[in-house]
Amino acid sequence: MIARTKPTNGPRILVTGAAGFIGSHTTDQLLGLGCRVMGVDDLSTGHLMNLRSATANSNFRFVRADITGPNVIEELCAGFRPDAIVHLAGLVSVVRAQEEPNLNYRLNLHATHLVAEAARLHGVRRAVFASSAAIYGDHPDLPLTESALPQPISLYGMAKRASEEVLMGYGASFGLETVCLRYFNVYGPRQDPKSPYSGVISIFAERFAAGNPVTIFGDGSQTRDFVAVEDIARANALAATRPGLSPMVCNVCTGRPRRLLTVLDVFRSLHPDAPAPQFAPARPGEIQHSLGNPERAADRLGFVANTELESGLRAFAQSLGTANSPQALATA
Ligand code: UD1
Repeated sequence: MIARTKPTNGPRILVTGAAGFIGSHTTDQLLGLGCRVMGVDDLSTGHLMNLRSATANSNFRFVRADITGPNVIEELCAGFRPDAIVHLAGLVSVVRAQEEPNLNYRLNLHATHLVAEAARLHGVRRAVFASSAAIYGDHPDLPLTESALPQPISLYGMAKRASEEVLMGYGASFGLETVCLRYFNVYGPRQDPKSPYSGVISIFAERFAAGNPVTIFGDGSQTRDFVAVEDIARANALAATRPGLSPMVCNVCTGRPRRLLTVLDVFRSLHPDAPAPQFAPARPGEIQHSLGNPERAADRLGFVANTELESGLRAFAQSLGTANSPQALATA
């Protein structure tokens, strides 16, 4: 039984998509900082289970609603009077966004406009937005800095890019303190592993836990900038609460390229009896390397992603309950 916490006078933060993967971790971080949090989620892909510890906290309130519904976000702002909105609700599947452009438009762009407009009408000071490295597309200049010309190659990336512009426009026009965070490859507990297009780490974690073989597309030498969800949540919480931030876009990344084979090695060390991996041809159109430059986040947000991939993967595997002891990794 978790003891209920005392009410605080901390900042009021409205979190959209609060029951999702990143939203629930962000809610937990904000509550840990003493914020008063209202979470909204339509539970289309999020789960109330993710908010189990949040709901035991008296500084948390949950509303089940679709924020693109008529006046929904406005009424939440009118009632709760947030200091900041952390806008994380959206269509997270890049593939589904490509297949359903209208849905992508409504959830990944129109929703952002509704958030910005509700913020303007109700005097919300700040909006933090879940943007994505997808806005860079297949950009050749690595590591990617925020000044690189965005070249999204998907409708998902397009909507994230356009959402940034909406919020920056509200910043320039109405003084909304806009912080657009461009997440790189996020992993960790509560990420949905069900689709073949889920993040590779969530797929590997689930398959290793179930004793099933994983598939490596290509030779495994591809690299990504993998960021633990706890770090992403901390970046969100900083962006929502740090005083005096001017409107900005900002990478949330580690700046350290990690090979897929390294990810595989860590999981194999945690599951020494797992079946051998299978190799399949690289997926068409995929990029070989992705890497962000973390300097702006460090300078302006005071944020450094400090979870090492090995310990992040270990914690993730152990959260699923089947990994070997930490010693397995130490001796790997
Ligand atoms: C991410 C998006 C993808 C989008 C791309 C460009 C996610 C989960 N994926 O892909 O939809 O098109 O950015 O913006 O948001 N892999 C395997 N085995 C698996 C699964 C994946 O080897 O079972 C490989 C992939 O081929 C890829 C690497 O792992 O080379 C990482 O895959 P993924 O986690 O999907 O991330 P991105 O490729 O960065």
